[in-house]
Amino acid sequence: MSYTPYGGIEKVWKSRATEVLAPGPAGTGKTRGILEKVHLYLLKYPKTRGLIVRKTRASMTESVLVTFESKVVQVGCDLNNQSRRTRSSYDYDNGSVLVVGGLDNPDRIMSTEYDIIAVFEATECSEDDWEKLTTRLRNGKGPYHQIVADCNPASPSHWLKRRADRGQMEVFECRHHDNPVLWDRQAKDWTEQGRKYLATLQSLTGHRRARLLDGKWSAAEGLVYPEFNTATHVVAAMPAQAAQHRLWLRAPLRLPVVGHRPGWPDVALPRDLPDQANRGRACRHHQPLQRRRDLRGDHHRP
Ligand SMILES: Nc1ncnc2c1ncn2[C@@H]1O[C@H](COP(=O)(O)OP(=O)(O)OP(=O)(O)O)[C@@H](O)[C@H]1O
Ligand SMILES: [Mg+2]
Repeated sequence: MSYTPYGGIEKVWKSRATEVLAPGPAGTGKTRGILEKVHLYLLKYPKTRGLIVRKTRASMTESVLVTFESKVVQVGCDLNNQSRRTRSSYDYDNGSVLVVGGLDNPDRIMSTEYDIIAVFEATECSEDDWEKLTTRLRNGKGPYHQIVADCNPASPSHWLKRRADRGQMEVFECRHHDNPVLWDRQAKDWTEQGRKYLATLQSLTGHRRARLLDGKWSAAEGLVYPEFNTATHVVAAMPAQAAQHRLWLRAPLRLPVVGHRPGWPDVALPRDLPDQANRGRACRHHQPLQRRRDLRGDHHRP
């Protein structure tokens, strides 16, 4: 299947920066374009090592690996020697290797070195994950080292956006016009498939529409902690020795608040609360959690 990169992805292909980010709305061709780049790199430079990764290994199986096997690879590596679900790598005829991983099993992927790393849906990952991956870029067999990521935009205060704004990553925005399946470059019009897909995205509402149709870094409505990220701030259970917290509604303010009292048994509060909550206030004073009117009056106190 022939492939030509366009727009933001064409710039990703040309970039030799160490850290590259390709953000964009849904279906713009980010994942395909990055997989094509990694594959070409491994084919072109023998004995190099690549890594493709998401937050969890399980999420790779039916997304990234399907695209890689069904659309990207035509020659150069064996697709039939391992099953997709348990595959740990693709071995290339020229001695290159593409490791497949998940950040849920970091020991396996962090114990080795790479020339090129691709992180998909990078907003699911933490900056800690990202920085650890950058330290694995030291195989030295290719002409340059690179870690490249794709994502749909998330909250404007997401660490990825901040990292990009600080100039630590080269950023190439992708748009629906970059995907020839959706946009016919010759006719200068949307394809049939493009029209249908855009109609689906246009029916989204709120921050989902802003992120997945318009490609904007947009906060969820009503959120007082815009830095909040479920990937990094939610734990299944607090450690036994941790301070005990509980969420309740403070009647005089008629607002839901986060509070703290030692000894409360049932705990389900985000860890690593963002800065504004971390200054001890969340533990000592009541904090408004959400300013939605519809929550007011629904008083509940333990
Ligand atoms: N340049 C291209 N040539 C041919 N097909 C393309 C091209 N770019 C994208 N596609 C196809 O468009 C579809 C969507 O691409 P892809 O999955 O890479 O989008 P995405 O931006 O990663 O989407 P999402 O944000 O939902 O993860 C895929 O079927 C892919 O093969
Ligand atoms: Mg994708």
